[in-house]
Amino acid sequence: MADQTIRSTLSIVLAAGLGTRMKSARPKVLHPVAGRPLVDHVLAAVAAAGVDDTVVVIGDGMDDLAAAVRPHATAIQKRRLGTAHALLAARHRIAADPPDDLIILFGDTPLITAETVNAMLDRRRQADAPGVVVLGFEPTDPGAYGRLILADDDRLEAIVEARDASPEQLAVRLCNSGVMVIDGARALTWLERIDNDNAKGEYYLTDIVAIARADGAGAAVVIGDPDEVLGVNSRAELAVAEAITQTRLRARAMAGGATLSDPTTVYFSWDTELGSDVTVGPNVVFGPGVTVADGVEIRAFCHIEGAHVATGSVIGPFARLRPGAQLDRNVRIGNFVEVKAADLGAGVKVNHLSYVGDSTVGAGANIGAGTITCNYDGHLKSRTVIGDGAFIGSNTALVAPVTIGDGAIIGAGSAVAKDVAADALAVTRAPQKEIAGWARRFNEHQAAEKRRRAKAASKAGK
Ligand code: UD1
Ligand code: MG
Repeated sequence: MADQTIRSTLSIVLAAGLGTRMKSARPKVLHPVAGRPLVDHVLAAVAAAGVDDTVVVIGDGMDDLAAAVRPHATAIQKRRLGTAHALLAARHRIAADPPDDLIILFGDTPLITAETVNAMLDRRRQADAPGVVVLGFEPTDPGAYGRLILADDDRLEAIVEARDASPEQLAVRLCNSGVMVIDGARALTWLERIDNDNAKGEYYLTDIVAIARADGAGAAVVIGDPDEVLGVNSRAELAVAEAITQTRLRARAMAGGATLSDPTTVYFSWDTELGSDVTVGPNVVFGPGVTVADGVEIRAFCHIEGAHVATGSVIGPFARLRPGAQLDRNVRIGNFVEVKAADLGAGVKVNHLSYVGDSTVGAGANIGAGTITCNYDGHLKSRTVIGDGAFIGSNTALVAPVTIGDGAIIGAGSAVAKDVAADALAVTRAPQKEIAGWARRFNEHQAAEKRRRAKAASKAGK
């Protein structure tokens, strides 16, 4: 590896395109893959590669996009006149402090990795110091991609856009991914020489290769994985990018020591953190913001987002943890249980058919089947506090705001709207009444009546 500490790097992410084929009200690069916008994946790869500074080129009026990429700077390309023109929208940043290496990426190419960015930087830092390094790839269908034309010495001679290519050039399989590293000191002089004399009437960034060569600076190719340079232009390509990302995230979870019994049915967010010896059953979905500590078991068909699960806990099957669910050690969440904005202490059990929201539940408390925290009155949300070791009987409604003291017992079927003291029993159901022999008398009477009616009906039918 070349020494990167003494060289300055600037990346420019092009994202001014409208993405018309997405048929969407939002800018293309804000569509999510694994729970975060396409452009954020690119920015994360650039950050992981250790790039010093980044500018995102956006279109006029794309305020949502500018907000989404902050704290990165944005440059506005007022009219979309091509990829070289887009780059010149960041002209002032480049001129103010020209980097040693200028890295160009596309906001709609989210699967690029830090390793590949670094491989390109390394190539530029080799002894021959090419003025331009291009990331090439061999797609199964070269279609509309720009073709990489190699010189006799096997170095890059030019990039020819498909629309401008001769039949011979179209037969070339090596294509331009769009990712480039350019000598930052000379980038502006080269960019300013690019014209729009081509089939699309656009300022093609790809022309920079021939211009750099004419200037005596070489151009080189680094070959990349086709999956990494997938461009997202449609919802179908968005789904392909999602699938590739999920494959990567599953591999990452397993490499980190998690067992996934059926990996292709588990869906992760970009930031899902699983500890070691976590087991995840089939059909589990992780939304953003989930951390799961070592040794947790997540059974089939759970949906988990914005939650923390501490070590030793068992979740599901069929459980839902929503944002703000904080589960301490050895918690047990069973089937058809929903937990939202609630802190559950160590060893808490909520095993069946319950809703626990806006609550604090003390260590060792047992929440019986069908318990509901009634946290919402149609206007405001209120909290339920359940003490350590409390026992909430089945089918209890806890009408918040309400506090159940440590060690208290709530009788099954209660609707509790007043605080309960520690170690007390509270029960709100009506007293039981028993009438001896009533059921037998009732059953005999009804059976006799049924026989009488059947007889009457058969007479009338004659
Ligand atoms: C470009 C390359 C092509 C390459 C392909 C890879 C050029 C001339 N062609 O073609 O060689 O094979 O990518 O996917 O560079 N953008 C702007 N402003 C503009 C134009 C584009 O910001 O005025 C942005 C787009 O939002 C997009 C990126 O630049 O993120 C690429 O633009 P696009 O129009 O998709 O280029 P392609 O025709 O696909
Ligand atoms: Mg494109």
